[in-house]
Amino acid sequence: DNTPARGVWTSDDGTMAYDTARNRWPKIVQGMVDDFAQAASTCDGTALVEAREIQVALKSIKHEIINNKALKPLQPDGVGDVVKFNVEIEQTERGYTWQDCPWLFGECYLYRRVQSLFARSTDWNSFDVFKGQKDSTFVKSRAAVEELAKRYLEMMQNLEQASEEALRLIFVEMTQVALWGNATDLSLLSNLSLDQVQKLQGREAIERSQRNIVDNDTEEVWGYLTDPHRSNRRIDIVLDNAGFELFTDLVYTAYLLESGLASKIKLHVKDFPWFVSDATPSDISSMFEHLCSVDMFPNRQALDILVPKLRGLFECGAITIGQHGFWTTAASFHEMEIDATGLFKCFQGSSLVIFKGDLNYRKLVRDALWQPTTGFKTAIGPLGQTSGIKVLALRTNKADSCVGIENAARVEELDREAPGRQWVRNGKYAVISFSDGR
Ligand code: F6P
Ligand code: MG
Repeated sequence: DNTPARGVWTSDDGTMAYDTARNRWPKIVQGMVDDFAQAASTCDGTALVEAREIQVALKSIKHEIINNKALKPLQPDGVGDVVKFNVEIEQTERGYTWQDCPWLFGECYLYRRVQSLFARSTDWNSFDVFKGQKDSTFVKSRAAVEELAKRYLEMMQNLEQASEEALRLIFVEMTQVALWGNATDLSLLSNLSLDQVQKLQGREAIERSQRNIVDNDTEEVWGYLTDPHRSNRRIDIVLDNAGFELFTDLVYTAYLLESGLASKIKLHVKDFPWFVSDATPSDISSMFEHLCSVDMFPNRQALDILVPKLRGLFECGAITIGQHGFWTTAASFHEMEIDATGLFKCFQGSSLVIFKGDLNYRKLVRDALWQPTTGFKTAIGPLGQTSGIKVLALRTNKADSCVGIENAARVEELDREAPGRQWVRNGKYAVISFSDGR
């Protein structure tokens, strides 16, 4: 069924949107209140005066959410996107309240509103209220970071001797590293030596771990990337979270470069703190500081080789960082050609654009309640049909939309396995969805 679906609203009973507006947002904002109180506890002078104002404003946002108040227009803070948010709030006939608005819009508005609180201050204008959370979560992934660094070096060492089949399996595994990094849950990852990978047993194990990938276009992507007629080797990655996911993305980036599948990779980050854990430019520099810290990562063998290698890739320009205001608007990617023409054109010149994570996926499919059997190319609208942009979504399912399921029988099977459509929401299932943009 390919009829255009409507976006999910926070008033849609039984959806994750509904639950998020009532239960998750108040907790997220309370987290900001607490973390900011701690950061502000040692300041004085104008910083203290401003901190008190911000504190009051944050509490008021929580109050508005809980009491289902109308979304207020954003205060001007020097960045033009405020106008677009306000036009949507002011011109909608129905009137948006926190618990009765399009989920995607309401959630982007929340983070934009918080940003505007800090941006309008003098002493706090570059403050990241989520930094503490991002850093403390990264520390917890110590073992996985050390292990992945080791595993990466092992695989790269033998790359030259690897058979065609082994090369394909390395791609499958590396892609899954980047995929499951989004769940910060690597329990589904296979952990095999190159030897084992080369054996049928290894292949079976990797393929088993792919069972929870409900739409899996890995083979198609591999075919595309290894096609000798591919026009260029620039890849773009629209990043999602800082911390462990960012580490897996850097490993994936290094792999794509080292294997020759890419010659240059641009990583797209957010301009300011977004959806709690999304990566900003300063999260990339913090990542390197953390990775070099003996206190945080005492087992240095693999990291002492990998980290300078990663640094080198940035220094020689093989990896670059891109920023664009479009990523922190509420627009879905159906609007990219109109709202961010430069970005759209830049992606048309890229050989592959990889979108990481749940929010990017929601924006790709317009956060709409599609039938799960709808094709991915249909759900991503203009990007999927005429843009020519090659899109690859690596996403663990943490919201209401999921498309690309092969048929109704498979949907029924998943509904039995994870009743109440939990396979779309609980982060244990995922998609690797590809569109050739034609
Ligand atoms: O768990 C749901 C949620 O918080 C959504 O609000 C949002 O889409 C997503 O998670 C953020 O996840 P990700 O970092 O994968 O984009
Ligand atoms: Mg995120």
